[in-house]
Amino acid sequence: MVIVNALNLDAGILANVQSFEGLAYIAAALLFILALAGLSQQKSALRGNQMGIFGMAIALVAVITVSLVMYAHDPAMAAILMVVAVGIGGSFGIFLAKRVEMTDMPQLVAMLHCFVGLAAVLIGFNSFFTTPGADTAENAYHMGEVGLAVFIGAVTFTGSIVAYLKLAAKINGKPLVLPGRNILNLAMLIAIIVLIGWFITTRGVDAGIIPLGAICVISLAMGAHLVLAIGGGDMPVVVSMLNSYSGWAACMAGFTLGNDLLIITGSLVGSSGAYLSYIMCKGMNRSIFNVILGGIKNEKVPVGEASEVQHREHTEVNASEVAELLRSAKSVVIAPGYGMAVAHAQFPVSELTKRLLAMGIDVKFAIHPVAGRMPGHMNVLLAEAKVPYDVVYEMDEINDDFGDVDVVLVIGANDTVNPSALTDANSPIAGMPVLRVWEAGTVVISKRSMGNAGYAGVQNPLFFNENSRMFLGDAQESVNQLLRVMDQES
Ligand code: TAP
Repeated sequence: MVIVNALNLDAGILANVQSFEGLAYIAAALLFILALAGLSQQKSALRGNQMGIFGMAIALVAVITVSLVMYAHDPAMAAILMVVAVGIGGSFGIFLAKRVEMTDMPQLVAMLHCFVGLAAVLIGFNSFFTTPGADTAENAYHMGEVGLAVFIGAVTFTGSIVAYLKLAAKINGKPLVLPGRNILNLAMLIAIIVLIGWFITTRGVDAGIIPLGAICVISLAMGAHLVLAIGGGDMPVVVSMLNSYSGWAACMAGFTLGNDLLIITGSLVGSSGAYLSYIMCKGMNRSIFNVILGGIKNEKVPVGEASEVQHREHTEVNASEVAELLRSAKSVVIAPGYGMAVAHAQFPVSELTKRLLAMGIDVKFAIHPVAGRMPGHMNVLLAEAKVPYDVVYEMDEINDDFGDVDVVLVIGANDTVNPSALTDANSPIAGMPVLRVWEAGTVVISKRSMGNAGYAGVQNPLFFNENSRMFLGDAQESVNQLLRVMDQES
């Protein structure tokens, strides 16, 4: 970027401002890395979040100061515009964050990604219009960055909008299967590569706008088509993948602007989003390439409708019977799922945990990697309800111990505790790793009715096992009832 120096600062001061910018960027980048490290564990997640906020504050102060001092033609007007922009964006963000339900978080995240994509497209076009090309190798390289920023940004933009519309049930969640859709995707990709090649060789706005405009239009279509082809069941993985794309879009914007911090931050977001998508796919036994490419080959996809129900006898229990089972147990494991989130049952569950621990009962939580509707969903809810971190175990840490557990309390979980994933090769969730809760002495399952299936739409044979007890009703109400009974009987 060309230094404007509207404040007429002498060269020494300008050099100091540049050093401050470099230092601030290194500090912010380090804080972002520490934030990611902190977020990897529940115990350190709060600190990780604080580091991220601190890093972002440093980055914002540095970017705003340096832009005003060095690059603005009219620093006063630029300052006013920035305050207005930050004010509008910040208020919008606070408003949304306060209103959104935890279960609606994937939609919000999808919407936020579309802004990153749009920003990358706008930065690309701005960079093209302000430096439209000179006959140098350096400029060809710059035009390549612009082309890639517009490509990735536009795919992220429309892909995220479609993901939002599907998740918010504003459009049909079924995959759109156009004839020859894989060929269509391939043709669009080849066209974009050729257009970027053409764009690099152009000089001046008139010559460059045609290939750049075409890259933008085809990329917008490609983003929408890729996500329209993906079934609603895979949407959370797509959101995580779009998170990764938005990171790479920011990274390309960083190259375009010559901004190191944006390059580092974009790469961190890009790679962590890709890794998260991989973990989610592993937890759901789905192929990541199949998901990204809109189901290039047919996999068994959860359909969302109950398959044939093998209704056998089930045994129901009331709150007094559950209280009795818990009181006589030495060890209890709680396996929460999506139903706990919907019912906001984490608070009474936390209270129950405290009471059982106070009674000398060994209580642990078993967290499946895709329990709920987004990565870490259960961990966030349990942390919110102040469940002690040291009793919360990941699936791999606890799955071999169920044989020694007296009572498992399943709170609104279904697919993640479904034994047919391991025993029925035809099940839509065949091969998905699950919590082997049925190996415990008694399994108490809290759900509203026997009629509904879980997310994958399949019936759960666990409910009909001899050692299973159905504790029917809304999870929050059921656990509150349990607490009342325990109060009365203590
Ligand atoms: P689900 O299989 O969705 O089952 C939810 C259970 O909660 C059902 O048994 C439901 O039965 C019950 N429930 C709903 N509302 C309730 C309420 N108010 N009170 C009590 N129970 C209630 O949940 P899960 O075991 O957590 O599995 C998650 C599923 O989502 C998996 O299939 C996973 O692949 C999928 N998924 C997860 C993610 C991530 S990253 N977490 C992303 C995409 C997809 P009733 O309706 O009878 O109450």
